[in-house]
Amino acid sequence: MNLKQAAGIKAAGFVKDRMIVGLGTGSTAYYMVEEIGRRMREEGLQITGVTTSNATKEQAESLGIPLKSIDEVSMVDLTIDGADEISSDFHGIKGGGAALLFEKIVATYSKETIWIVDESKLVKQLGRFPLPVEVIPYGSQQLMRIFKERNYHPVLRTTLTGDVLKTDSGHYIIDLHLNKIEEPEKLAAYLDQLVGVVEHGLFLHMVSKVVVGSENGVRLLDSPHQK
Ligand code: 5RP
Repeated sequence: MNLKQAAGIKAAGFVKDRMIVGLGTGSTAYYMVEEIGRRMREEGLQITGVTTSNATKEQAESLGIPLKSIDEVSMVDLTIDGADEISSDFHGIKGGGAALLFEKIVATYSKETIWIVDESKLVKQLGRFPLPVEVIPYGSQQLMRIFKERNYHPVLRTTLTGDVLKTDSGHYIIDLHLNKIEEPEKLAAYLDQLVGVVEHGLFLHMVSKVVVGSENGVRLLDSPHQK
């Protein structure tokens, strides 16, 4: 079993009967969704899922997991999702899989959020992983210019075939190659007020627990950011 799989399976164990569960996106979340599907088949677990991307929606449907949209529930009980980087003060970068907008919406309306990662994602300070910023296509070159002027080293994300990547909502992603983020809150506030920016991948004060797959087994880290 690989480390992502171990973390995903462990986190699926936190899901209780009749919960409304936010289902994250990515290769680690994939294993968590599979394990929830297995528990439903073999243990009679009953849940309702709220998915964070078209990819996860397809997977959940293939497993027979009943789904609702975020607007059809009052609150999500528990969201389990991957992350690209987690700092020692439990802030994160997400969006490597281009699903950050729905992921942030679902996490925001969740009573609790758990992140599942392998140990390579734990860092002292955020920023080595490029920070994704989801933008409206109209005006995106203006944002590229502004980010260049600020030395954020922006790169418009493309697909493997070289086309500009479009998110599930039809937006673009600009990845900021910052290397180090000294003041995540300040950067988040700056990005939040830029016209044309829909959302960014800084997930601050959002996670209550981190499940880490490591060579020595799965570790649970409790974050100070409890809801
Ligand atoms: C998608 C995400 C993913 O959770 C993040 O990229 C981690 O992915 P993986 O588990 O494949 O490493 O934020 O937008």
